[in-house]
Amino acid sequence: MTIQNPAAPGSAAGASKLPAHDVADLSLAAEGKRRIEWAEREMPVLRLIRERFEREKPLAGLRLAACLHVTTETANLVRTLKAGGAEVVLCASNPLSTQDETAAALVAEYGISVFARHGADRDMYYKHLNAAADVRPHMTMDDGCDLVTLIHQERRDQLTEIFAGTEETTTGVIRLKAMAADDALGYPVIAVNEALTKHLFDNRYGTGQSTVDGVIRATNLLIAGRHVVVAGYGWCGKGIASRFRGMGAQVAVVEVDQVRALEALMDGNLVMTIGDAASWGDIFVTATGDIHVIRPEHFRKMRDGVIMANSGHFDCEIDLPGLTELAGDKIREVRENVVEYTVGGKRLHVLAEGRLVNLSCAAGHPASVMDMSFANQALAGEYLAQKHAELPKGVYDVPQEIDVEVARLKLAALDIVLDPLTPEQVKYLASWQHGT
Ligand code: ADE
Repeated sequence: MTIQNPAAPGSAAGASKLPAHDVADLSLAAEGKRRIEWAEREMPVLRLIRERFEREKPLAGLRLAACLHVTTETANLVRTLKAGGAEVVLCASNPLSTQDETAAALVAEYGISVFARHGADRDMYYKHLNAAADVRPHMTMDDGCDLVTLIHQERRDQLTEIFAGTEETTTGVIRLKAMAADDALGYPVIAVNEALTKHLFDNRYGTGQSTVDGVIRATNLLIAGRHVVVAGYGWCGKGIASRFRGMGAQVAVVEVDQVRALEALMDGNLVMTIGDAASWGDIFVTATGDIHVIRPEHFRKMRDGVIMANSGHFDCEIDLPGLTELAGDKIREVRENVVEYTVGGKRLHVLAEGRLVNLSCAAGHPASVMDMSFANQALAGEYLAQKHAELPKGVYDVPQEIDVEVARLKLAALDIVLDPLTPEQVKYLASWQHGT
């Protein structure tokens, strides 16, 4: 990795003095800026927060390392954090989600230090994380817990300097809770994913829409009439299943949790084991957060032409090493982002190397939902800057007042006005005497 123009992160952008960075191509910056501005139109809550941050500078003096998907929506978040006075360095939280033009614009147009290239290999990915950690942050902002894990495993001396962090996604929160249970977590982290204004919209509608978008962009398949198997019926799985149903697919859900399985059934899906689903499905999407959900015994049963995609954070849900072993030398790329594995004469296709299909084959969640997720991130960052000294190490929910404020601002931006309760209704809700 060559670090170009290694000026101090956060220094002013200019032709001659760019912040430290490693991005694919700075000449893409103008296009990136146009796209960032397009996303911003759908992010009114974050814009309001940015305007306030510009005036109040609640993050002044704070060094912040963010490991997030480098998208136009994230660009608007890091602009907000910078407006609040933070010195921000951004690295990618997934090698295939980086939008190179966004990365270029952040460096050249907005003066933000970025380490991210689309298609980075593992070595480069971790070099970029280390470059972000080199800023010696006071705060981390993670999506999937890779930065937190790196710091806890390899850069422990920094734990005394970091006073707090935030985490964006379900998988990251599960890891943080495992760390906390092992008494291994070195500082307080707010689980942004747990905010209602995050997972009810981002995980459900964002993942739902962008996953279908990713599958369609990669394959151009007609969804109507297909058998779609969705593994996992958390908020993401619920969204994915509902969007595929909405496009006319028959959906079967695979679950290990009794209540979620029942919910899936009553939402109108079939429910079956992955063993049975293997020979039924045309399209398989995993969103479980667990490893090897689809394995060799399932690949062997699949029909010719099936599509497999993953929407969980890590690329371990489809057992690709197992599939590679089965297919031997009968593996080829048949279309951008589509690799065909021939197993027993049948052609099985995997999208985007089993990595997040919605960010690898499409552009991730639409800006309108990321507006709420990233408003929670920005406000959680502000909260931690003020309150970190009072918070012992551990995993925290987003304070309820932030969650409600994000909903209020979003509704206001959409010009939606709610009814106030009448005095009689307030009184009724506080009473217990009324019966039939
Ligand atoms: N996660 C899912 N979609 C995203 C997006 N558009 N930007 C950043 N992170 C995301």
